[in-house]
Amino acid sequence: MKRAAKPVPVDELDEKAAKAELKHLAEVIAYHDRLYYEKNAPEISDAAYDALRRRNTAIEQRFPALVRPDSPSRRIGAAPATGFAKVTHAKPMLSLDNAFDEEDVRAFFQSVRNFFRRPEDLARVDFATIEVAAEPKIDGLSCSLRYEHGRLVLAATRGDGITGEEVTANVMTLKDVPHRMEGRSWPERIEVRGEVYMERPGFFALNAEREKAGEPVFANPRNAAAGSLRQLDPAITASRPLKFFAYAWGAASAPIAETHWQALKQFRAWGFSVNPLSKLCRGVEAVLAFHRDIAARRAELPYDIDGVVYKVNDLELEERLGFAARAPRWAIAHKFPAQQAETVLKEIIVQVGRQGSLTPVAVLEPITVGGVVVQRATLHNEDEIARKDIREGDMVVIQRAGDVIPQVVGVVKERRPKGSEPYVFPHKCPICHSLAVREPGEAVRRCTGGLICAAQAVERLRHFVSRDAFDIEGLGHKHITEFWEDKLIKTPADIFRLDYAAIAEREGWGEQSAVKLKEAIEARRAITLDRFIYALGIPQVGQQTAKLLARHYRSFKRWRAAMEQAQDHEGEAWRELNDIHGIGEDMAADIAGFFAEKHNLKLLDDLLGEITVTDYEAGRPPHSPLAGKTVVFTGTLTAMSRSEAKARAEALGATVSGSVSGKTDYLVVGADAGSKAEKARALGVKTMSEEEWLALASGG
Ligand code: IVH
Repeated sequence: MKRAAKPVPVDELDEKAAKAELKHLAEVIAYHDRLYYEKNAPEISDAAYDALRRRNTAIEQRFPALVRPDSPSRRIGAAPATGFAKVTHAKPMLSLDNAFDEEDVRAFFQSVRNFFRRPEDLARVDFATIEVAAEPKIDGLSCSLRYEHGRLVLAATRGDGITGEEVTANVMTLKDVPHRMEGRSWPERIEVRGEVYMERPGFFALNAEREKAGEPVFANPRNAAAGSLRQLDPAITASRPLKFFAYAWGAASAPIAETHWQALKQFRAWGFSVNPLSKLCRGVEAVLAFHRDIAARRAELPYDIDGVVYKVNDLELEERLGFAARAPRWAIAHKFPAQQAETVLKEIIVQVGRQGSLTPVAVLEPITVGGVVVQRATLHNEDEIARKDIREGDMVVIQRAGDVIPQVVGVVKERRPKGSEPYVFPHKCPICHSLAVREPGEAVRRCTGGLICAAQAVERLRHFVSRDAFDIEGLGHKHITEFWEDKLIKTPADIFRLDYAAIAEREGWGEQSAVKLKEAIEARRAITLDRFIYALGIPQVGQQTAKLLARHYRSFKRWRAAMEQAQDHEGEAWRELNDIHGIGEDMAADIAGFFAEKHNLKLLDDLLGEITVTDYEAGRPPHSPLAGKTVVFTGTLTAMSRSEAKARAEALGATVSGSVSGKTDYLVVGADAGSKAEKARALGVKTMSEEEWLALASGG
């Protein structure tokens, strides 16, 4: 890959030359990326590489219309360790809530009904007549395909739902995915979404080939599909039998249909594959019958499905139902029952979590359950083991449902080996040997070793660098344990102060891997607020809660100030925290409690000396009059239920609170309002009628 010695100045390039050079640069940079990230064998210096990228950017700035779908500049911020560029989805890709039985499904339709209020709306969500699009739930990985003027310009995996990985060149190799949409009726810009999957025959053939070549085989078609799509070399993707079903869409420059069913028809007309088993059902009973029908045909299908998805067909209702924190209110996945198998439980081991909890895990004789090899299963806690009388050596029943960790359902007592003993749960930490105690009323036993317990420290650090937190690749369990033992990393901030020269000297390391680690770490000196909160590992604060907190407080500074004030459980800040939908009192106590510990504050200060936390922005509608405002509803509303009003306000960027305070921007007053209206007047908070609110919320 050589190029003429002296490049033409960018100012002197004409369009034709620019176009040719951009094409060339895209190839050259991709080539060097591959050498660097995949093969670990760069051919050019970093400076030479940077010069290529700079030139690419300069040409693109002069000729913005020539930016290629596979341009290296679209890969800015690429996670260096994975080699994929990050793509922020124009609309988040959420997941679905699950229903496991008919009762859950009925509860779902009830919640849809409860959302509405007006008789004419209620008529459209009647149990017996509601229109529902029902589709098999494909077990693959979801993908978002951006089309501009009918052309595929960008494809991305779901990632964490907000940002995914750019896989355009790979998706271009799928026969089911049109490079150009057929027909004419498509909007100028649209994100078509669906599932990339692999059929079972193709999966078995692929594994057979890999086995022959001495390569590791894939556990199931879904892993095979994901592994095949996430290839740095699109030629590998092209050689794998991947397929695609379209079933949803993200941002679109114009409405595409009035019902989900029509949208599916559109997809077909545009040249996509749509699952032919999908069915438009009328009424909840019809939906349940569809589930039974698909369950019965499951084994005959050439691809894996793990349930059926129901979607409210009317898109106007869908729009109003909107989204809760992690999933839409207008759809649900009705899963198939879990699959079971029997195997021998060889040993019970006890793992120590980052808050010291002792978790028993069953080590099993490996067994295939629903196509996946299972070697370990969770035993939950000591009471569970006692209740089921699970012993080492027992024949046990294992159950696996979807992505859930396999569980031990029970023991086959007839096959219990003679002389087996009931399991005795340890009262000491298996790692630091401190006493492990169980507080009254608690199900878990915890190690009291605190900061001296290596297991807890290592688990906290592991959580800190994990994929959904700081996402530092190349710092796995083994390395963290070693670095912790050798006192290179004691606190999270230490990660950003590593001595890479010293690391290069360590056994098993070397210059290159030390540099790679350094790059992976340096790339994470800026982090979004939600990831940062999650990384702190506050008890009960998972990803969803971290997002809720980030969305509510928006900046680290505001959050911290509020949490310090929230130490006073009588005050405003404490109430505000408790008012966040999805945060209960118990959780609020843990969150505020984190800020009551001196060593945590020290940890934060130390860490903030090394990194920057960026403000939360995702999903904020830019021009809404309600963005950033705090709204309180009181009294009975007539046009919509309280839940719909709340959802609408949140969708427009407002925070909905349960009580009026000095921070309230608007109080919406329905019929028979009580004391809140008085309080608002006393505080000078702006009040409005339901009609005024409707006008504001509909942008009028
Ligand atoms: S709709 C906002 N329809 O299931 C809702 N999802 O558990 C968008 N999936 O991430 C999803 N088949 O990967 C939808 N017919 C189908 C589906 C489907 C499979 C997957 C998808 C999604 C996951 C959610």
